[in-house]
Amino acid sequence: MEKICVLGLGYIGLPTAVLFATNSYDVVGVDINREIVEKVNKKVTPFEEAGLEELLVKAVDLRRFKASTTLEKADGFIIAVPTPFDKRNRMADLSYVIEATKSIAPYLEEGNLVIIESTVPPGACEKVVVPILEQRGNAEKSGLKAKEDFFVAHCPERAMPGSTLHEMVNNDRIIGGIDEKSAELAKSIYASFVNGRLYITSIRTAEMIKLMENTYRDINIALANEFAQIAEEAGISVWDAIKLANKHPRVNILNPGPGVGGHCIAVDPWFLTEDSTKNRIISLAREINDGMPVHVLHRVRKMLANIKREAVSITILGVAYKGDIGDTRETPALKLIRLAEKEGYAVKIYDPYVNEEEFEYPLLPLEEAVKNSDCIVVLTDHNEFKSLSPAKIGEFMRTKKIFDTRNCLEHEKWRENGFEVEILGC
Ligand SMILES: NC(=O)c1ccc[n+]([C@@H]2O[C@H](COP(=O)([O-])OP(=O)(O)OC[C@H]3O[C@@H](n4cnc5c(N)ncnc54)[C@H](O)[C@@H]3O)[C@@H](O)[C@H]2O)c1
Repeated sequence: MEKICVLGLGYIGLPTAVLFATNSYDVVGVDINREIVEKVNKKVTPFEEAGLEELLVKAVDLRRFKASTTLEKADGFIIAVPTPFDKRNRMADLSYVIEATKSIAPYLEEGNLVIIESTVPPGACEKVVVPILEQRGNAEKSGLKAKEDFFVAHCPERAMPGSTLHEMVNNDRIIGGIDEKSAELAKSIYASFVNGRLYITSIRTAEMIKLMENTYRDINIALANEFAQIAEEAGISVWDAIKLANKHPRVNILNPGPGVGGHCIAVDPWFLTEDSTKNRIISLAREINDGMPVHVLHRVRKMLANIKREAVSITILGVAYKGDIGDTRETPALKLIRLAEKEGYAVKIYDPYVNEEEFEYPLLPLEEAVKNSDCIVVLTDHNEFKSLSPAKIGEFMRTKKIFDTRNCLEHEKWRENGFEVEILGC
């Protein structure tokens, strides 16, 4: 295999494309978004990711990589397009995967390998992708059959934004094939840059594994969130309790927080259960995590109850769904902001990582965001927040109150500077 077309130059597709290109493959990165293609060809990454721009420059300079809006004939095709969450029906929206597969079909030739990296529900590769490739195959050579004439694999991604390249190279990886040859072919190309182990399985198992991993995390976060709310009722610090419970050799409780965001953990449980009648604990966990912004607002409302003023002002610190990244997809902050505004609070937001155009509320400089505020609500554990000066911030605030949903601040320091401090789970 020498040439690979990667469809989708987003958080997953672009790093994958440049990793292949810097490991001796000729790569065409295809995206339907012309702006992204133009940027990437100028060696500019369309989003922030540690080490990505350097690798892109290297791949282009080696003449191993170019971006385009059109596909080319290749030995392998990798689909890394979005699989949005269809909220209404609580299922995966496969329309991008379907369009990407249709666009590959006319270029498909004997011996080609098609890899689906996009997260899909169990069975989707065999039920949706393979039939499109078989039915819409290259006109001259129509009648190409999966397993006989071309090969299909699902290689789900486990990388985490912020350390995508490191994780793509070093994590173990699951490779599911529609048959052994498909899996072996896929394994042979990923082996060019993956230092972790490559485990081979069936395509349906690979689809299930990816969704199980994120569902496992979602359920464990829900458990931590439930522990947090019980601890509040019992007058205990859940953080102290979790720390000590985790001294047990077989216990590893995760951290509670204001809800679950991101494109994976908050939606993959629904992909897993969309066609199942056996789903109980999974939807309950989703419900608990989705309820956390409401719980946070209840706590904040209590803190503000004694302020008798018409316009009470709240400052949100952090709208990214996790620390030190700018990704706001499925962020629980959005629900909290909407509910707070609906209740009449004036909400001001500061997040140093988030690109203003990508968020539907205005983002302000820190001083403006805390000016005349009655309460800060910390929703994201950005490192920058840990070193904020309570003395300086206190000068701008109207009422010195802070609610920390991540237990990420030095609370004593804030108290010493006159702040009333409350913490989720305490
Ligand atoms: N981002 C993550 O951390 C992560 C982790 C694991 C799995 N995934 C999965 O990987 C897949 C891709 O996610 P992402 O975060 O990279 O998405 P993204 O939105 O960052 O990028 C997807 C890109 O695909 C392009 N695109 C859409 N349709 C296309 C088509 N027909 N042909 C070519 N390009 C097309 C879009 O323009 C966009 O640039 C999703 O299924 C996601 O669930 C993502």
